[in-house]
Amino acid sequence: MPVMQSPPGPRTVIDGREYLYFGGTAYLGLQRHPEVIRAACEAAERYGIGSATSRTGYGDTPPTLDVERQAACFLGAEAALYFASGYQGGHILVSAGRGLFDAVFVDELSHYCVLEAARLSGLPFFPFQHADPEDLRAALGANLKPGQRPLVMSDGVFSALGHIAPVAEYCRVLRHYAGAALVIDDAHGIGVLGEHGRGTTEHSGMPDPINLGLSADEFSEPPALLVYGTCSKALGGFGGIIPGSQRFIAQLKQTHYYAGASAPPVPAAAATGRALEILQADPAIRLRLHENVRAARAGLRRLGLTVDDSPVPIVCLRIGSADRMRRIHEELLDRGILVPYMAAYSGLGPEGALRLAVFADHSGEMIEQLLDALARLL
Ligand SMILES: Cc1ncc(COP(=O)(O)O)c(C=O)c1O
Repeated sequence: MPVMQSPPGPRTVIDGREYLYFGGTAYLGLQRHPEVIRAACEAAERYGIGSATSRTGYGDTPPTLDVERQAACFLGAEAALYFASGYQGGHILVSAGRGLFDAVFVDELSHYCVLEAARLSGLPFFPFQHADPEDLRAALGANLKPGQRPLVMSDGVFSALGHIAPVAEYCRVLRHYAGAALVIDDAHGIGVLGEHGRGTTEHSGMPDPINLGLSADEFSEPPALLVYGTCSKALGGFGGIIPGSQRFIAQLKQTHYYAGASAPPVPAAAATGRALEILQADPAIRLRLHENVRAARAGLRRLGLTVDDSPVPIVCLRIGSADRMRRIHEELLDRGILVPYMAAYSGLGPEGALRLAVFADHSGEMIEQLLDALARLL
């Protein structure tokens, strides 16, 4: 397996060679921000690497609590829960929701962790067609008895396909089901989409705050809308995050996915807190990302590729057969440009795809260099 030997960024060293890099998820370039790195180093010196106990023991440190304050502020919530990995977010929500639902309905191309969390519920499991509210409506109608409560789960932004889930349409479908909840894994939406970077729900025009509780019975209108995310992608740090009301967060702290795991490493927490501060102080970082996404997507369309005008920094390029895409990937590598070819990743199917990631700190020239190279290979 290739080994990364520098921070991820527009120029990344892999196996001893520097590439113009369009892979991974460092969308806002915060992982290599000098202040983020300094915050991690200072925290390591002061607190060590980890608190060596769970957060419910004595594992809370000032940087851990600061991530929760910063994330709550950024996401427009009263509070937030910070834990070791975004992968666990759905597991925490599903285990907190035990006994509240009768069946789980999942977008068939959801991330592994969403599918896994849905299975963990132990409820009758119904996949529905990718990003299709009408198929969700049909699945609900066919599989629920009157009065039964559905739990619906999906990615917000699909990690390899770059599609945005039709959250507002799902909510319209679920309005008719008392006790329904919609859980969105927004690992790739938070920090990127929406006016304030709050993610897919903000982009979809859903009201703040979300994550008020698992049971829609408390609200005037179902579904209860629940979102979790990660700090390891656009947010530039590490660990999982769930925003929410004080009451709801206190409830999630009772789950063993949270209570039975060590606190996130303190340097990672300190880096995450600093990255969140930078992001709130400098919204121009997100604007630069969106300019680059527009430029890259428009350029790809000029090459004749089918690419829509979405604000998502992930562009899934399906260019012919798997062999052809692998060849394009290798010929780009020869030219010093890295666009990962992903075979058989979550949602991609057997042919795989070239997954191109655009960053805020790519320059216009870098994007042109990629487009020129692609133009020669297509
Ligand atoms: C959609 C999605 N959810 C969750 C995760 C896991 O988040 P984390 O890396 O913080 O564990 C990933 C990828 O890493 C992802 O793509």
